[in-house]
Amino acid sequence: MRIDILTLFPGMFPGYLNESILKRAQEAGLVEFHLHNIRDYATGKHRVTDEPPFGGGGGMILKPGPIFRAVEAIKPADEACPVILLTPQGRPFTQTVAQELAQQERLILICGRYEGVDERVRQHLVTDEISIGDYVLTGGELAALVVVDAVTRLLPGALGAAGAAETDSYATGLLEGPHYTKPADFRGWQVPDVVRSGHAANLARWRREGALRRTWERRPDLLETAVLSEADKRFLQSLAEE
Ligand code: ADE
Repeated sequence: MRIDILTLFPGMFPGYLNESILKRAQEAGLVEFHLHNIRDYATGKHRVTDEPPFGGGGGMILKPGPIFRAVEAIKPADEACPVILLTPQGRPFTQTVAQELAQQERLILICGRYEGVDERVRQHLVTDEISIGDYVLTGGELAALVVVDAVTRLLPGALGAAGAAETDSYATGLLEGPHYTKPADFRGWQVPDVVRSGHAANLARWRREGALRRTWERRPDLLETAVLSEADKRFLQSLAEE
C-alpha cells in the first residue's frame, strides 16, 4: 500500500512513522509513506497557502489551488484512489472504516488547518472526509497519523503475532477482556488459576466471558451489534442478574 500525506507541516510526521510497527511495516515493504508539503504547490513570491474567508468571519481558509495542484502532481488523472480530507466534519473513523481503507492499494490524505479548506476542495477533489472524534484539533495531522496507524497494522504481516488484529477490541465487536503476563504473583496480587492452567477450552471461555463482561460494563451499546452465541447470551443474562 502507498499512502501520500499532504500537509503544511511534514516535519510533524517522521518521528511517529519511523518507529515500531509502522517502521517495520515500511522495512518489510508492506507500506510506503510519502509526505508532501502543500506549500511547495503554492505560487508567488510568498507561496501563500491560506487567505481570509470571502465575506469576513475571521480565521484563515486554505486556498484551493495549492491543494489541487499537489493532488494532481502525485496522482495520475485516471487513477481512482480515495482522496481523504481529515476534518471534524467528516464521517466518524471506526475499526470498520480502517478495515475498508486497508483494502486499498493507495490512499491520499489531506490535512486541513486553520478554520478549514475552501469548499471547492470538498466538492471537486476529495472523495471522502473523515473525523477521528467529536473534538477539534489544531489541524488534520494527528488525525492522519491515527488513520495511518490503524490502517497499517491491519495490513497482512504488519503485526508480529499472527492473528493479533483479529482479536482486537472492536474487530470482534467486543472490548477485549483482561490480559496477564509474568510474574504470576505481583505484590500479592495473583494471576487467576484458569489463565495459568493451560486448559485451552476453559481459557477460551474465560476470555470470552471477560470480553463480554468488560463490554457490558463499559460499552453496552456494542452488544447490540456484536455476534453472540447462545452461551454468550446466557452469560450476559447472568451478569444482569448479579
Ligand atoms: N481536524 C481537526 N479536528 C479533527 C478531527 N477531530 N478529526 C479529523 N480532522 C480534524
